[in-house]
Amino acid sequence: MRHVLITGGSSGIGLACARAFLAAGETLTLVGRDATRLAAAIDTLGSARASGECCDVASAAAVTQMALRLQEAGRRVDVLVNNAGLFLAAPVLKVPEEQAAQLWECQVMGPWRMLKACAAADLRGEAGLTVVNILSVTALKSFPACGFYGATKAALKNLMETARAELRQEGVRICNVFPGATDTPIWGERGMDRSRMMPAEDVAAAVLACAAPHAGSLVEDLVMRPVGGDL
Ligand SMILES: NC(=O)c1ccc[n+]([C@@H]2O[C@H](COP(=O)([O-])OP(=O)(O)OC[C@H]3O[C@@H](n4cnc5c(N)ncnc54)[C@H](OP(=O)(O)O)[C@@H]3O)[C@@H](O)[C@H]2O)c1
Repeated sequence: MRHVLITGGSSGIGLACARAFLAAGETLTLVGRDATRLAAAIDTLGSARASGECCDVASAAAVTQMALRLQEAGRRVDVLVNNAGLFLAAPVLKVPEEQAAQLWECQVMGPWRMLKACAAADLRGEAGLTVVNILSVTALKSFPACGFYGATKAALKNLMETARAELRQEGVRICNVFPGATDTPIWGERGMDRSRMMPAEDVAAAVLACAAPHAGSLVEDLVMRPVGGDL
């Protein structure tokens, strides 16, 4: 049984991943900022194999403290799903400074901090570490009003590709998943046609497959789009 840590595990794609990994028999730690939402998500899973860690990945200190708690509890991480994220729809010239910084901290610095913490010798799983990063098709293609959001995903893509090359010889396997529009709460009340989006369960099934412990191969990149294409 592997220990899988999922950031942003209390909603949407992260919660769907939690269901998929639980069904596969794994033990989970779900990470989110809102303790009530996290507890409610864990309740819905109804399994003693799922627990929660309240942590804002945008805070270096919070990630360090969480890593210490996991170390002290002897909970080495076999699989890290770097999924926590926020959406920001705004034309490039209208992105507020504060929100730009928040997005960068959550979606670039956060996954980098989580990778550093989980790849450290005292937290990495005995058999190594598999990392699945939830990026976005916006890292590969420009969409109006998604410039800054896409820029954080493209930056993380580059960072994680470099980390993959640097770490693959020492048992750290890094996979980047690029989903298109997926039906989750991240879209809020934007009036999007949710019937054209992918179910979060489809993305979760792909994440589970990418994290499978194959000794001789690694899925490096996986692009997924709704069957009808981008919205
Ligand atoms: N939905 C899509 O169409 C789509 C497409 C491509 C990629 N993605 C990516 O998929 C990932 C998950 O998105 P989703 O659609 O499932 O969104 P969601 O339903 O809104 O879930 C986001 C999750 O991230 C957590 N979170 C946000 N900021 C955090 C932080 N600083 N520290 C820790 N946890 C944090 C949230 O919990 P708290 O608010 O309680 O912290 C929540 O659990 C994101 O990276 C997103 O960019 C989504």
